[in-house]
Amino acid sequence: MSNKRDRRVNIIGAGLSGLSAAVTLAKMGAACNLISSQPSERAQSVLAEGGINAALDTMGEHDTTAEHFSDTMKGGCYLESETAVRNLTENAPGIVSWLFRLGTPFQSENGNLILRNFGGQKKKRTAYAKSSTGKMIMTALIDETRKYEAQGLITRYPHHEMTDMKVRNGKLISVAVRDNYTGEFISFSGCTILCTGGLNGFFEGMTTGTSQNTGNAAAIAFSAGAELANLEFIQYHPTTVGISGKRMLVSEAARGEGSRLFIMKDGKPYYFMEEKYPELGNLMPRDVVSREMFFVTHDPFFSGSVMLDMTALSDAVWNNKLSDLRAELISYLDCDPKNEPVAVSPGIHFFMGGLHVNDRHETNIEGLFAAGEAACIYHGANRLGGNSMLGAVFGGKTAAEAAAQRAASMHETENAPEPASEKYEYFPADSGLSDRIKQILFDGLGIVREGKILSETADKLREIYEDTALNAADKKRAALALAMAESALARKESRGAHYRSDYPETSEKFHSRTVAKMVSGKPEIRFEPLENKEENE
Ligand code: FUM
Repeated sequence: MSNKRDRRVNIIGAGLSGLSAAVTLAKMGAACNLISSQPSERAQSVLAEGGINAALDTMGEHDTTAEHFSDTMKGGCYLESETAVRNLTENAPGIVSWLFRLGTPFQSENGNLILRNFGGQKKKRTAYAKSSTGKMIMTALIDETRKYEAQGLITRYPHHEMTDMKVRNGKLISVAVRDNYTGEFISFSGCTILCTGGLNGFFEGMTTGTSQNTGNAAAIAFSAGAELANLEFIQYHPTTVGISGKRMLVSEAARGEGSRLFIMKDGKPYYFMEEKYPELGNLMPRDVVSREMFFVTHDPFFSGSVMLDMTALSDAVWNNKLSDLRAELISYLDCDPKNEPVAVSPGIHFFMGGLHVNDRHETNIEGLFAAGEAACIYHGANRLGGNSMLGAVFGGKTAAEAAAQRAASMHETENAPEPASEKYEYFPADSGLSDRIKQILFDGLGIVREGKILSETADKLREIYEDTALNAADKKRAALALAMAESALARKESRGAHYRSDYPETSEKFHSRTVAKMVSGKPEIRFEPLENKEENE
């Protein structure tokens, strides 16, 4: 075990939020360690398709950041921090313009960005690079990172996986990482930002994301005393298709350009979203669309699939905006969406819950920060499409600024390396338990949930958690899985992505976030009031 001791901020994860944090620090002249189990080119962020939101108002619709703010709050069912969302939406135009200047090939005309429609928003506000927006933004940011790497401000540790974390008296002491090529362990002292993505690894094969986002970092932090919030809110993206053991996204951009969902009813196409929601129709927020898809397909008279009809999209749309989506569908499904509707179903896409952070992205553990999908802050009970990359870039930046401040004020002794005798735990490769946990969670935490089933889910997970034969690493994963189920059980209402058939209404009583914390070796869930001042709907 070697020790790294300096005033560098450690960033775990080299996707969008990690790169944003690293570049922000570098621009301030502060050095950082950029540690990741995969190189940035393989981060989940490269899979992001549809775009990034900013009220740039380039489409003559008089869009404003205030409307972006209110759409985001409404989409998230008012479970976000108002201050955080205001900061996010007000900074969005600057962020997207910066990414454009860095070389992201956003679609544009005469230097003005062309924006597209996305779910839950009445105005065109989503900047895009066909349907490979994540890959294009990442490419631009990777270039920027390399520039600062050459200046010695960013030191990369690719293929290094976080395996443990030491916390003493509420302060982060160090994180341990393992070089997956050599097997060597390194401990890093100092401020650390977790940019480790969502909890896909708890639902391996069932999400649109990469299972390289194992959720291990969150599990380690949780067991070390970090609070996680809103774990019950799991976003099911309405339009996914199953390919080789995972869900592939059919970008919401397709519906943004006019594609329509339908089922066959009485021998005719029935456009259920348009019938029920005439204003936004197919572009209702994802929680609503996925739930409606669940209900229509669970009608006793239903047979077949929900279809996405993209056949009316013009050649110009296919060629200029969605050519990569079409190529993927032809390649993976042997189906040309220009000529025939595609059968789609909801798939897990995003975790609104994560490490509980304040508006500066600080966790309850001093010196530990979180950003991107690893953090719970901007998306409330349901994230709007296009806000995830925005939240990742802005969150990475905000966390980096706060961490730099904290690192600069740290007393020399606070940065002391761990004694060589310090023992760290290694997260071993999957022992098979993950498959069991995954199935239990998936069966309990679907689009429509019910108290009795949630209670059984929690019981099964508690039994696993309390199994004394479990190794320490599996116990950490089981603890986090149990916290997810218990959060869902505790929220006796329906809100956003959390819909309970036994409590179908939204209740003012539960207008607060759930916070999960390990107390005396057991996950405990509490409801924490929001600090929001404005009147909510
Ligand atoms: O459908 C999509 O392109 C997804 C975008 C997002 O999750 O932000």
